[in-house]
Amino acid sequence: MGAARIVVVGTGYVGLTTGACLASLGHRVTCVDVDAAKVARLSAGRVDILEPGLSELVAHGLTGGTLSFVVRAREVVADADAVFLCVPTPMGAGGAADLRAVEDVVLAIADVLPSGCSVVTKSTVPVGTARRIRALLDRPDVPVVSNPEFLREGTAVSDFLGPDRIVVGSDTPGAAERVAELYAELDAPAVVTDAASAELVKYAANCFLAMKLSYVNSIAELCERFGADIESVTEGMGHDRRIGRSFLKPGPGWGGSCLPKDTSALLRMAESAGFGFGLLDAAIAENLAQRDRVIAKIARAVGGNLADARIGLLGLAFKAGTNDLRDSPALAVASVLCAHGAEVTAYDPAVAGEQPGMLVADSPYRVAKGADVVVVLTEWPEFRRLDWPYMAELMHGDTVVDTRNLLDPRTVLDAGLCWQGIGRPRATVGSATSVS
Ligand code: UGA
Repeated sequence: MGAARIVVVGTGYVGLTTGACLASLGHRVTCVDVDAAKVARLSAGRVDILEPGLSELVAHGLTGGTLSFVVRAREVVADADAVFLCVPTPMGAGGAADLRAVEDVVLAIADVLPSGCSVVTKSTVPVGTARRIRALLDRPDVPVVSNPEFLREGTAVSDFLGPDRIVVGSDTPGAAERVAELYAELDAPAVVTDAASAELVKYAANCFLAMKLSYVNSIAELCERFGADIESVTEGMGHDRRIGRSFLKPGPGWGGSCLPKDTSALLRMAESAGFGFGLLDAAIAENLAQRDRVIAKIARAVGGNLADARIGLLGLAFKAGTNDLRDSPALAVASVLCAHGAEVTAYDPAVAGEQPGMLVADSPYRVAKGADVVVVLTEWPEFRRLDWPYMAELMHGDTVVDTRNLLDPRTVLDAGLCWQGIGRPRATVGSATSVS
């Protein structure tokens, strides 16, 4: 297929990345969003999301006339070859995905879709959604295709243009192949399958990643108990190609707008299919336990009593490279600390403005001032380059709890502070530590 006419509904980070990247592949893309102010900003080339390369692609598409933004889907689908649904599917009642936004769009365009135009689900939707959309559409001449995205926040554009794989599934013969053709320019294997399998791939992949992290966080806890070092343990595991090196870093627990939502949703889906997914349930429980262990570690660092302790937090975003606070483990830790009566000051290079219960500072040194303990919660590389002797001078206490194993323990130690990571030996002044 050459250039196709594509409509993308929803301009969140998935929709906007999809629209701008499909335009960069040579397709004519119209992006739709109900938020008129956002449409006006995007039409002027203003992108609110912190996503490397995205503003440039949007600007390029706008100038080249391959990308445009409008408010109403009904007015632009009449000559579309494919309509991509990229609207939010938040966690609804009982942990299941809330599909109202998807259904609203489908109902709004059902009668104006041209015959043969594919309706493509890009947002993560429960298994069985394609079938549900087909029933809602009631248009046998309009195929429904599942084409899940595997974009990570912070690297969404490069993930889109250099994917590990393209997954497309449909129950209409030939429809999945036609959608796969839209990506023909990309050098990636295509998995062409039925709709339910494509829908399940997305959950199976995200939940596997979450389980991998919960497993690593548990092994890190064992490392602390056995006096082992998680860095060496994961290095030794990662060389095994069946395991792989990525997604093996312990942390304060996994978060963000996807893994928590998708793990709960798959658990609920399994339940409603009569399968108790114990492995996944345990991974979710372990994630909460990891947060509790981080809190306990911070409490120990201030002598056991969090009430009135002055705690400085480095990082609020759910991971480095983004300003996204949705389901951020850092925020969850902060709110528990506040609830225990601690006085919390936080700094994140990408986050400004107020957060309930704490002071958000505009400098990492403000965070250190008078702090009984400083806690690294997001792995921003710049924290490694702080003036740690100055941090030590500003602090009241002498411990840095590094929940991302980000800092060089030696640097912290040389500044006269104690360093405590996750699953690694504690580095204290005078200790014969092997951490490097
Ligand atoms: C995740 C998946 O990685 C993407 O493939 C997927 O497309 C996306 O969800 C989605 O469903 O849209 P994302 O939420 O951007 O992407 O974040 P990740 O980079 O996967 O990180 C998730 C969490 O795991 C973060 O809290 C991160 O700090 C944590 N993490 C990640 C670790 O603690 N250790 C690691 O080694 C890696």
